[in-house]
This record gives sequence, C-alpha cells and structure tokens, in this order.
Amino acid sequence: MSDVLSQPLTLPCGVVVPNRLSKAAMTEGLATSSGLPTPELERLYKLWSEGGAGMLLSGNIQVDADHLERPGNVVIDKEPDDTMKAALASWATAATSNGNQFWAQISHAGRQTQTNVNKQPKAPSAVKVGLPGGQFGKPIALTTEEIADIVRRFGVCAAACKEAGFTGVQIHAAHGYLLSQFLSPRSNLRGDNYGGSLENRARALLECVAAVRSAVGPDFPVAVKLNSADFQKGGFAFEDSLQVAKWLEHASVDLIEISGGTYEQPKLLGVEGLEEAEEQNVQHSTKMREAYFVDFAIAMQEKVSIPLMVTGGFRHRDVMEQAVSSGGADLIGIGRPMCVMTDAPKQLMNGLDELPRYERELAFFPTWLSFLNAIKPLRAMATFGVQFWFYAQLDELGTNGQAVPEISPFSATRRVMALQKKLLA
Ligand SMILES: Cc1cc2nc3c(=O)[nH]c(=O)nc-3n(C[C@H](O)[C@H](O)[C@H](O)COP(=O)(O)O)c2cc1C
Repeated sequence: MSDVLSQPLTLPCGVVVPNRLSKAAMTEGLATSSGLPTPELERLYKLWSEGGAGMLLSGNIQVDADHLERPGNVVIDKEPDDTMKAALASWATAATSNGNQFWAQISHAGRQTQTNVNKQPKAPSAVKVGLPGGQFGKPIALTTEEIADIVRRFGVCAAACKEAGFTGVQIHAAHGYLLSQFLSPRSNLRGDNYGGSLENRARALLECVAAVRSAVGPDFPVAVKLNSADFQKGGFAFEDSLQVAKWLEHASVDLIEISGGTYEQPKLLGVEGLEEAEEQNVQHSTKMREAYFVDFAIAMQEKVSIPLMVTGGFRHRDVMEQAVSSGGADLIGIGRPMCVMTDAPKQLMNGLDELPRYERELAFFPTWLSFLNAIKPLRAMATFGVQFWFYAQLDELGTNGQAVPEISPFSATRRVMALQKKLLA
C-alpha cells in the first residue's frame, strides 16, 4: 500500500482529487467523423475509471473541426445541440463511475493540424512545422478577430463540458499546439499585441484562461498543460515557463501540468528530435532521472505555490513517491502504461513496484525501429510509428475492452491508417 500516492489533494478551488495518480491526456481517435463521443469512448473511460486513478484527463477535445490534432477527436466548436449534450453526458458518467475526477483537455492544433485534415491551417504566424514528409502544410497567420473567436470557443467548450458532468477542464498550452505556438518565439513572429514580448506571446493563453474561468465559475477546477521548455534553440525556455506559471497562478488556475517539447522536439515522449535539444538551466538530480520533467517542477515549486502535476517517464513507484514527498509534484501523470495496464494506479497504490515500458520494447523492435532510429531524419517517423502502436491499444480497449500488446508496430500503423481513412471519407 502506498500511503504517499493514496493521499487526497485539495485544489485551490476547493475540489478534492482522491489520490495522487492521474491518467495523462491521450488522444483517443474514437469520436465520430463529426466529433461526437461514442460508446467506445465510454467503454475506454469506464475501464480507466475502474483502474483507480484519482483523475482522468481526456485526450484533446478540439474547439475547431478544421484544426483537429487527429481525425476522431471530440469537437465542441459551438453551443452543443441535444445529441452532443447527451453523448458528452454519457461519456462523463462512464468516466466518473469510480468517484474520480474527469477533466476535459481543451485544445486547438494550429499548425500541427495534419494535411489530411487541413492543408492550410491557421496559426500565430505562417511558420511551417519543421518536419520532413509533407504531413503539415504552411499555415496562415490568424487575424486578431480569429484569435478572439478561438478564445470565445475555449469558454463555450468549457461550459459545455461542465454542464455535461465533467468535473474540471484543462487548457492545452503544451506540445506545440496553438497556445504553445503563441508562446514560442520560433512559431510566433507577430508584430501585434500577440507577439514579441513574452507578455504578448502569453496573451492568447491568458485570455483563454479568463474565458474559461468566466464560463465555469470560481469553484470548478481549471488547469493548464504547459511546457517546461520547447527544448529548441530560440524557443520557449524554462525562464519563460516560470514567468508564465506566475501569471497563471494570478489568473486563478488550480493546477499546472508540466510537460515539454513539440512534434519537432518530442521530449514529452522522452525522444530526441532532428535538431539537437537545447539544454535548459535547471539543476538535475540523479534520483528521479526516469521522470523527464520532475527537476523542472522542483525548480518551479520554488517560485509558485500552485499545485503541479508532472507527466512523462514515471515508471517506478518509489520515484513517484519521492516526487510527491519532495514537494516536486502534487500529482503524477501516467500515459503510455495506461494504454495496456488500465488499472496501473490501483496496482501502484497496492504496492506494485514498476510499470511496463512498452515504448522501450518497441524501440528495439527488430529491423524497422532500430533501423529508422539509426538514421536521424527517419527518427520522427519511428516516433509516429510507436505512437500508432499506442493508438491501436486505445482503439482495441474502446472496441473490445482488452488491449493487444502482441500487435506489431507495422500492423498497428496499418490499422490506425485504415481507421483514419474511414473517419476522413
Ligand atoms: C497515444 C498518446 C496520445 C497522447 N495524446 C495526448 C493528448 O491528447 N494531449 C496531451 O496533452 N498529451 C498527449 N500525449 C502525451 C501524454 O499526455 C504524456 O505527456 C506522455 O505520454 C508522457 O507520459 P508517459 O511517459 O507516462 O507516457 C499522448 C501520448 C500518447 C502516448
């Protein structure tokens, strides 16, 4: 029994998270082609709810159907009609069946919208994602009216989720999606109030926070997923992240989830991008090395008193316990292990020492991944291939209630591509 991980956490708004383990946001791809939640999503989240996590974060819920992160995202881009209201409510009921928190992650993909969804997405500036393969088009810079419309949509989406029975919301400002694009001087070259100084680059995020807070009221949890850094030369750096965290604290945010990286530099998954990663000025401890961002969280805790969730790389119970006991993390986010072991939180709290590292086994998958990994420009493809393996697990859990860890990355990729094709038809 882990006393540390089983402790409840009270958030600034007064809501209590029953324990310190959270299922991290993972895009499911299980909505209909029009973005409606499905029985498959309900099955998946019921399993996770029964798995003992104090909190479940949904995958990206998009505020614009033309800016999906992936076909099959749930989309709330306007006041929901009765069908959408009923589908959201059924999903929320299934996802809270064990008395846990269930928060909606609200997002807009911006320039990280794939060309199969939108060949010319909108973004802060016309700066294309720097990856080979033609997966992303050159974006068009948003007008200030369009920015105001996106901010409004974040509020509409949050209100709809609250009404449907979600117990909190999270604004996605990490991983190179739209709000993270605004924060980075590499993807935001604007000369107006939304570009230039950090204060200006953080404006879109802070406006979304204000719209969401005003939509849900003071007693409802509002969180932000924020990069500790983009780990790119001239990008959003750790000092910037500290300053933004202070502003978020003032803006009555209840929890910041610390992650890092973008599609170009996928540190969030513990993977190096094509460019060499930009080192950040943070002292690294050796004790909790497996967790990618815990040292950033420890350094951030010195500057802000807002609760922090830390996600990325946690696999050992003692490391999770240490992160919580040291005050570095108030909540531990767990992603990939939950794609197969849906009751990982329950097992950890009952004393399980270590979670499986499926990503490591896949990285050594004969021929293809090791071959791709050896050639730098193809590493991005390998990362996407591994992601598809996890997507296939979520699809199988949602469809049949059981994961398929034996599937190869090749078959998983074929399967996910076929599903996407169906959704786009
Ligand atoms: C299949 C998959 C889907 C993901 N989708 C999202 C998402 O929708 N939103 C998000 O913020 N992060 C997403 N992530 C990142 C995870 O939330 C998490 O930051 C990452 O997996 C690292 O945690 P882990 O080492 O415990 O897996 C995704 C990761 C995976 C593997």
